[in-house]
Amino acid sequence: MGLFSKSGSTAVAEPPVKLAGFSAPPVRPAKGAAPAPAIAKPQATPAAAAPAAQPYVAPSAPQVQVQAMAPQQERSPYFQQMKVRIHQNLVERLDVQNLKTLPPDIVRREVRVLIRELCQQEKGLLTSSDQERLMDEVMDETFGLGPLEILLKDPAISDILVNRFDRIYVEKKGRLELSEVTFRDNAHLRQIIDRIVALVGRRVDETSPMVDARLSDGSRVNAIIPPLALDGPAMSIRRFGSKPLMPEDLIRAGAFPAAVMDFLSAAVQARCNVLISGGTGSGKTTLLNCLSRYISADERVITIEDAAELQLQQPHVVRLETRPPNIEGKGEVSSRDLVKNCLRMRPDRVIIGECRSGETLDMLQAMNTGHEGSMTTIHANTPRDAITRLEVMIAMGGFDIPVKGLRTQIASAIQIIVQAQRLGGGKRKVTRVSEITGMEGENITMHDLFAFEQTGVDSNGGALGQFVCTGIRPKTGEKIEARGLKLPADLFQRRVIPSK
Ligand SMILES: Nc1ncnc2c1ncn2[C@@H]1O[C@H](COP(=O)(O)OP(=O)(O)OP(=O)(O)O)[C@@H](O)[C@H]1O
Ligand SMILES: [Mg+2]
Repeated sequence: MGLFSKSGSTAVAEPPVKLAGFSAPPVRPAKGAAPAPAIAKPQATPAAAAPAAQPYVAPSAPQVQVQAMAPQQERSPYFQQMKVRIHQNLVERLDVQNLKTLPPDIVRREVRVLIRELCQQEKGLLTSSDQERLMDEVMDETFGLGPLEILLKDPAISDILVNRFDRIYVEKKGRLELSEVTFRDNAHLRQIIDRIVALVGRRVDETSPMVDARLSDGSRVNAIIPPLALDGPAMSIRRFGSKPLMPEDLIRAGAFPAAVMDFLSAAVQARCNVLISGGTGSGKTTLLNCLSRYISADERVITIEDAAELQLQQPHVVRLETRPPNIEGKGEVSSRDLVKNCLRMRPDRVIIGECRSGETLDMLQAMNTGHEGSMTTIHANTPRDAITRLEVMIAMGGFDIPVKGLRTQIASAIQIIVQAQRLGGGKRKVTRVSEITGMEGENITMHDLFAFEQTGVDSNGGALGQFVCTGIRPKTGEKIEARGLKLPADLFQRRVIPSK
């Protein structure tokens, strides 16, 4: 008896590929051919396979016509119906108890055998490539995220934005385009959302219709459902890919010149506190990830995020994630709670994925009191705006601190502000590296060290321009040198920095 056979049949390898083509193959394998997959429920008689073995009802005339000659997209209702039918039959035939006891790769292999068998029982007009596609899609439906799988396999896609079940936009090379991929209906989309959020132990329903989650590859997911989303469930996926963007990748992509990274990497090593500012999707988290690579391996780093996105490579990292309230509105753990708690965990540096509310003051205090070299991001359009946003967030947190005291706190906590921007045409760049130098009266003083000056747009609407070094030697230069780090003598020389 096979290792995992409930029906008594032995485990089987996938039979040689015999594709249906237009002349449908026999409904079941001939005697002596490979036995039924071990994970299938036992079938007493051929009739037990009723749903799958039911005679195929030909689609209505127009569909057949479409099938014969129309392009792929028009055939899709026919294809979709067949996929649903096969998936249902598959679910009915799977032996769930047996599945749980088997290694995942064996389960996948056997399910694929079963799907092939079910495909062949469908006497529909399927080309061999359609059958392969159908098998892939049923596999994705069974084990993965359905229609999203095909998008997730494309490394060029950085964002997947599901506006509606039948309207999915993807961002490729900085540009948004409508994808051909669709869900079957709202229920199908909802089913996939449920599957994603369940993986991280969260849920989404009418009482809590918004949720943050993440995929196994680290992609960030936000889903929102009716009644808040008016046209059915919507979902936004931010992908970072299995291989995160490295500083060299960003230099090659023209996000900033090597000189900028020479300075920033030295500033991080010298434990300057860095604030990364930028609009939505401007590349803040990517920059934070890149800068964190320069933290030395012997420092204890604690990261705090709403949905863990950072991919730190150091060994000495503790990752913390906030928790939304439960169904009774209790049990919430906010960023602020985690910042406070992490200060009792003896961190050398604290990295907060995004600073957006009550945690701001705690973070500044941490930066000022022995956790130098901490970093965070903030939504703002210029370095000056970023400072104003910090003030506003502290005020909103209910702290009544005189403006001067507050600004002094900010000026002594933060040394470097890096401004990220998504420019016209979708290119992401570091448009400014500024340094906070102190206070003059009630105002924080700061200057730019590097800047991107846009001169125009190319034929694709992409930003054209040049990086310049302003010629100002940073105050942090002393701190960097005091740490024994050597910066190139001409790094801060006033000049246009040649691109790449
Ligand atoms: N310089 C770059 N060149 C090309 N792609 C980039 C660059 N920087 C970031 N990206 C990609 O752009 C997307 C958005 O980046 P990221 O998540 O870092 O932005 P963000 O500002 O943190 O966004 P949000 O405001 O949503 O948190 C990601 O898929 C990332 O891989
Ligand atoms: Mg981000």
